[in-house]
Amino acid sequence: MSDKLLQSNILPEFHITGGKGWINDPNGLVVFNGEYHVFFQYHPHGVEWGPMHWGHVKSKDLTHWERLPIALRPDETEDGCFSGSAVVWKDKLWLLYTSYRENGGGDNIRQLQSLASSDDGVHFVKHGVVIGEKDLPDEYSPSDFRDPRILRRDDKFYALVAAKRKGGTGRILLFESDDLFKWKYVCELLHRDCKGIMTECPDYCEDIGLLTYCEQNRASEGHEHVNLHTTVARVGKLDYKSGFIETGRGEPVDYGFDFYAPQTFTGQPLMIGWMNMWERNNPSAKYEFAGMLTVPRKIEVKNNRLWQTPVYACREVLSIENSGKITDRLISGSVKINMAGLRAFKMKLRMNGRHYAKLTLDDDYWVFDRSNAGERIVGSEKDDDSKAQVRRMPYEKSVFNRLEIVVDRFSVEIFADGRALSSVIYPELDADGLELELEADSFTYRRFDIAV
Ligand code: FRU
Repeated sequence: MSDKLLQSNILPEFHITGGKGWINDPNGLVVFNGEYHVFFQYHPHGVEWGPMHWGHVKSKDLTHWERLPIALRPDETEDGCFSGSAVVWKDKLWLLYTSYRENGGGDNIRQLQSLASSDDGVHFVKHGVVIGEKDLPDEYSPSDFRDPRILRRDDKFYALVAAKRKGGTGRILLFESDDLFKWKYVCELLHRDCKGIMTECPDYCEDIGLLTYCEQNRASEGHEHVNLHTTVARVGKLDYKSGFIETGRGEPVDYGFDFYAPQTFTGQPLMIGWMNMWERNNPSAKYEFAGMLTVPRKIEVKNNRLWQTPVYACREVLSIENSGKITDRLISGSVKINMAGLRAFKMKLRMNGRHYAKLTLDDDYWVFDRSNAGERIVGSEKDDDSKAQVRRMPYEKSVFNRLEIVVDRFSVEIFADGRALSSVIYPELDADGLELELEADSFTYRRFDIAV
């Protein structure tokens, strides 16, 4: 880590970053020898996307992360190691990822799926391409074929891979294998084109029957899918011979400004996403890092929809009941507010003088506003909410409401009755003011520090 980062103690306290450099998608989420391993798309030599490596951290408690050496780096056979996933088998940690070959660009680009393995979970050996051009059905393009999600079931391995139909858009393909080296195409998952121009980073959590995938450049629908690219959650069941059988409506995984490419831990209902968005400026570049991952979320299906709860080690430091106005301090940690008979809500956080991020409630939505939260973030979205730096998440009208807000030096993640709204903010580093005005029949406000 560079002197600047060390001296200024500037990195997020408990959110994963690359230390120095650029990161995007979380990759290879897996438990190996009792520890949580997280890899991520990493460009160590700059604060913008570049030749992709796999960065690597591990943790015992999903909160304190230890940095490990780079796990995969480009070499003479591949110009980038794109996204992929991990599985533990025969005491080894296996990675299935996309080898990206530039080949002069355009239709000559090749994206093929490769295997790597490790005995110690730190040093990896590459085994080369295992799902190649000849394994891809003719109607798909080998230039847009990526992000293998490995699954294990009944002594077989399966992989979901995003692919682009020639003359069409993105789809999710299912492959199977007995030994991770030889793969066979089985079927397509949804039997229709995605709504964007390409599908990315498919994921399936068998435990709860949840399929998620990203759609590039999908048009927004009302207050949903407003970001340039989006991630959809579909409830249902994967039939490993014929595809995915849906039982729910597709809903955005997250309603915030900054969420993409989530993945679950292999075999566990626990999800992490990339907390950023393509085509935006990254004010943290001046500190030599760009991009971070979300807090891990326990995922469940309730009322036929995705329900997310953040997971991190914390300790309660304050508890207040039924007070009309609350003034508190928070830079990193969380608040949990349980409310009965909620009528009005207004919270300002990371306040410093006139600057703050704001969360309010209107009739139907939680409204997050970062227009006055510090350094300006400019993206390529052109809609009114984006121009106003606002995002909205449906408000579940009910007798009781639960809110959990997870805050770190450069981020706010709001969880309201199972839904999530995640965004980065770049306030002054010492902006610690918090003000809450709440009208309800009764409520409790509790604040938590991150456990040391
Ligand atoms: C998604 C993505 C993946 C690709 C990776 C490259 O954000 O575009 O499809 O594997 O990033 O870094």
